[in-house]
Amino acid sequence: GKPNVYVTRRIPQKALDLLQGECSVAQWDADDPVPRVELLKGVKGIDGLYCLLTDKIDAEVLDAAGPGLKAVSTMSVGFDHISLPELRKRKLPLGYTPDVLTDATAELTVALLLTTSRRLVEGVHEVKSGGWGTWIPLWMCGSGLSGSTVGIVGLGRIGAAVAERLKPFGVSRFLYHGRNPKPEAAGKVGAVHVELEELLSESDFVIATCALTPETKEMFNKTVFSKMKSSAIFINTSRGGVVHQEDLYEALKRGTIKAAGLDVTTPEPLPTDHPLLTLDNCVVLPHIGSATVETRTEMAVLAARNLLAGLKGEKMPAQVQL
Ligand code: GLV
Ligand code: GLV
Repeated sequence: GKPNVYVTRRIPQKALDLLQGECSVAQWDADDPVPRVELLKGVKGIDGLYCLLTDKIDAEVLDAAGPGLKAVSTMSVGFDHISLPELRKRKLPLGYTPDVLTDATAELTVALLLTTSRRLVEGVHEVKSGGWGTWIPLWMCGSGLSGSTVGIVGLGRIGAAVAERLKPFGVSRFLYHGRNPKPEAAGKVGAVHVELEELLSESDFVIATCALTPETKEMFNKTVFSKMKSSAIFINTSRGGVVHQEDLYEALKRGTIKAAGLDVTTPEPLPTDHPLLTLDNCVVLPHIGSATVETRTEMAVLAARNLLAGLKGEKMPAQVQL
């Protein structure tokens, strides 16, 4: 018979059609994440799992699925929500969605940087609240990109695409830090691989586009913020987990750094009474880096193709090296 697949969310129709063409599909047919108990029930006896970044895929879920499980596919480029050791143990392939979301996410990163550096949210608020009295020479002044130094932590596909987009704004120097030098990506914008300390002390804008791993977990902490310029602006479009959020709050409150723009937080959603949301110098977006209609459809379709390939024992179009 057809392989049984469980999809943990309502996804674009095109992707669902692809899966239904070859599989018997059960789905958590809602826009809210599947509750844990439903997930554990839903995966029983499946051959393939199609999941999202909001689903924690660990030993318990894989055990609940049982020995028939052949492949896991996530509709995301990040896979920190999935236990890789548990997949390795079971020799399960994992599909993800790189490349298709690079442009959209880089675009959003630039948008968030400009929103934060030019204080757009504050400005809109002033207009609506009547705070706009007149044109004032030093009112609502931010910082410009022209002649600036941009530091990118994690010059992967997205980080490199961010740098390429920022270059035309007149950024004079790109620094980057990561485990390995990336000469090819760096070459396009003339980015220089430096130690983290140097990146922090030299950069006017520090952008996190690194994956969340044990090495990057909460790496943006008090010590790191204290090494940045007091005029520095911090942007995070990777994962909330790379930031020690209480330390970021203190750094913004005390003026250790000037401002922050976050597309990702801990937790998500960020509670509406969270201290970060009381700060004028912090812009928080609801994890929308890849959120264009085209991109989300491409991600959903790629995740479907990955799962279908995995079910057949073929190499996935985009498979994680486990
Ligand atoms: C989004 O954060 C993704 O990992 O695709
Ligand atoms: C600003 O609008 C200016 O004319 O300087």
